[in-house]
Amino acid sequence: MSLDQQVVHLRHREGSQEGTRYIAVASGKGGVGKTILSINLGRCISESGNRVLIIDADLGLSNVHLMLGLTPKKNLTHFFFGEASFEDILVKVSDNLYFISSGNGILELAKLPKDQVLSLIRRLQELSEGSYDFVIFDTPPGIHEDTLAVVSAVDHPLILTTPEPTAVADAYALIKVVNKESGLENFYLVVNKVEGEEEGRKVYESIRLLTDRFTKARVDFLGTIRYRKNLIRKIIDQDPFERGFTTDVYNILSNMKLGIKARRRSFWDVLLGRLFGK
Ligand SMILES: Nc1ncnc2c1ncn2[C@@H]1O[C@H](COP(=O)(O)OP(=O)(O)O)[C@@H](O)[C@H]1O
Ligand SMILES: [Mg+2]
Repeated sequence: MSLDQQVVHLRHREGSQEGTRYIAVASGKGGVGKTILSINLGRCISESGNRVLIIDADLGLSNVHLMLGLTPKKNLTHFFFGEASFEDILVKVSDNLYFISSGNGILELAKLPKDQVLSLIRRLQELSEGSYDFVIFDTPPGIHEDTLAVVSAVDHPLILTTPEPTAVADAYALIKVVNKESGLENFYLVVNKVEGEEEGRKVYESIRLLTDRFTKARVDFLGTIRYRKNLIRKIIDQDPFERGFTTDVYNILSNMKLGIKARRRSFWDVLLGRLFGK
């Protein structure tokens, strides 16, 4: 076996026995934290040794690159129209973590002839499954054709809301429409910007009451993310990783049962934290 083959073999044994897994982060309402959650999920999953690709599919308020301070020159649309290779559109964030911007990519696909679309999708599949253990889609808020398509196709459709009544109502509406249009039954709920676990659980119960009664969807609660006032400062500094937020994300990942554990902080991290209260 060549060295390359051995590396691939090893990676498959370690991380991707089940092949590439696809996660979508979606919401009814905008501003609930999809982008920050997608980036943090990507970071946490990649730190446990998995290769992760984030696809920024939120073309209206496309801002994964703004949060990370990395601006891609080309996006998925250029790739689809043969104006860029996959390598050209790939942006490295950190070890094992990459992102691409979709531009109008997913919607533009509908304009191409069907056989061309099929071959592009196959090519994307090969590229994802050859190199990544996880692909995370940061989707636009609300009910769009392309969001419906992505959310209904992934392994883990993760619906995000805050405790705000409008966000909760829109999250329920999204679950209801996806369930009705695509027949998808299993959804995961995360409640962001909460004061405590209890507040999030109440939101979950209220959504479940409705989905149990009026839909065929089954919603699992993955947990909450607390409101962290330091996060805004971190986002301004284009370093959107706040320790408390990360802790909540690891808890969510553990509830997703993907086999991903929080990385133990090193002696030096703990020491620095003690000295500077970081
Ligand atoms: N847990 C949180 N604590 C504090 N602020 C948050 C939290 N989650 C998100 N935010 C803030 O909410 C805003 C919207 O987040 P973003 O990820 O851009 O939402 P979306 O992608 O859903 O539009 C950002 O300014 C971010 O700082
Ligand atoms: Mg966003």
